[in-house]
Amino acid sequence: MTQTESVPAVNDTPLVPIEKIVALCKRRGFVYPNSEIYGGVAGIYDFGPLGVEFRNNIRRYWWWSMVQTHDNVVGIEGANITHPRVWEASGHVENFVDRLVDCKKCKRRWRVDHLPPENLEQNKCPNCGGELTEPRKFNLLMETYLGVVEGDRMKTYLRGEACQNIYLDYDNVLKSSRMQIPFGICQIGKAYRNEVTPGNFLFRQREFEQWDLQFFVHPSEMQKWFDYWKAYRFEWYKSIINHKDRLHFREHGPDELAHYAKQAFDIEYRTVLGWQEWEGIHWRQDWDLSRHSQYSGQDLSYSDPATGERYIPWIVETSGGVDRTFLNLLLDAYEEEPDPAGKEPRTVLHLHPMLAPVKVAVFPLQKNKEELVSTAKGIHKHLQRLMVSQYDDIGNIGRRYRRQDEIGTPYCVTVDFQSLEDQTVTVRERDKMTQERIAIDALPMYLLDRVTWK
Ligand code: GAP
Repeated sequence: MTQTESVPAVNDTPLVPIEKIVALCKRRGFVYPNSEIYGGVAGIYDFGPLGVEFRNNIRRYWWWSMVQTHDNVVGIEGANITHPRVWEASGHVENFVDRLVDCKKCKRRWRVDHLPPENLEQNKCPNCGGELTEPRKFNLLMETYLGVVEGDRMKTYLRGEACQNIYLDYDNVLKSSRMQIPFGICQIGKAYRNEVTPGNFLFRQREFEQWDLQFFVHPSEMQKWFDYWKAYRFEWYKSIINHKDRLHFREHGPDELAHYAKQAFDIEYRTVLGWQEWEGIHWRQDWDLSRHSQYSGQDLSYSDPATGERYIPWIVETSGGVDRTFLNLLLDAYEEEPDPAGKEPRTVLHLHPMLAPVKVAVFPLQKNKEELVSTAKGIHKHLQRLMVSQYDDIGNIGRRYRRQDEIGTPYCVTVDFQSLEDQTVTVRERDKMTQERIAIDALPMYLLDRVTWK
């Protein structure tokens, strides 16, 4: 999909409560609470059969648009564990903290930066009005230990932001890929944070996945590339949502900038949680390469092959969340449409076809007619080699459509008696519920044309 061929806007619908998405995700196998049989762990989730397909599609589309279609961008995949010095150099050991206060009366704990201004001023609990304690600092890095012998074990951290591997591999990429500045390195990978207040389902987790671009530039070109990637990422998100008016930029004030950023814009999306960050566009300048040069003793400056100039490259970062994309897309796509016939409403996910976990479902009109069944199974088997296809012969056709609508399957194919005579099938489209007759031979191209990006 090009960035101009985006999902068509649908009529504005009410904001969807998170609980509806949580229930759908569990019921249909998108997301499960982690370790549920032991009572679960706050802020950690597993992805089920449909969740994995959906996630893979989201990741692939990002990779395709960020890496594959840019000559000056390459990808890496770094490890989740690094040398502990990395986190001193990055500033996380010192600065990656949440300031917390406790209510002396009701004992609830609050992040200082999440307190409403009036509560902050009056030092009052938003829940019961009780007095709040002095703020205490908590570091969010998750500790782990390498080695087995007590005393020889080395303390390190699971990565608190995935992008650090990009700075660690920057010099290797430069030498092994013949890239020249300006160029970028992308990565999709897990990050871990001991969030003090995990919650709102996938929104704030302790283990989550980030997609990052670190784009290395000459300082004189920083503004140009910052503007380029800021606009590009905004259009990217816009192209995959229905409710375009629920997306905007918010610039960080000087008091909320992360320790590494000189300037930052969040791409925010509006849900029942209000306007919330989806991705950050950060002006990281020379912070990362300077610090890693200093802490590692390795010279990470760049020598321009044309001019001979030596300098520490400046960095534009675009850093977003795979999990927030997963959640926001479901919130954006979910709709309960009233049924004109007065029966129960139709639950439908208006996902972009290229991101939907299942692309097509194939049904025989009746399951007790051998020829209908074998033709439908043959079509399903053929389509399965090209895309995710499901075969279903349980219940009436209306029920089968409903099951597919609820998971966002864009096309359903029905084999009926006419199919046996003229080798055509009915293709029903999810959003408008229109039906077309298509020759069985033409079906793969018809579907591929609609469910893959280009
Ligand atoms: N390298 C920059 C960085 O990590 P960030 O704003 O802390 O910046 C980037 O994180 C993105 O990662 C956020 O925009 C959000 O989408 C996602 N993210 C951050 N914390 C998260 C959490 N606890 N759970 C889920 N996603 C999170």
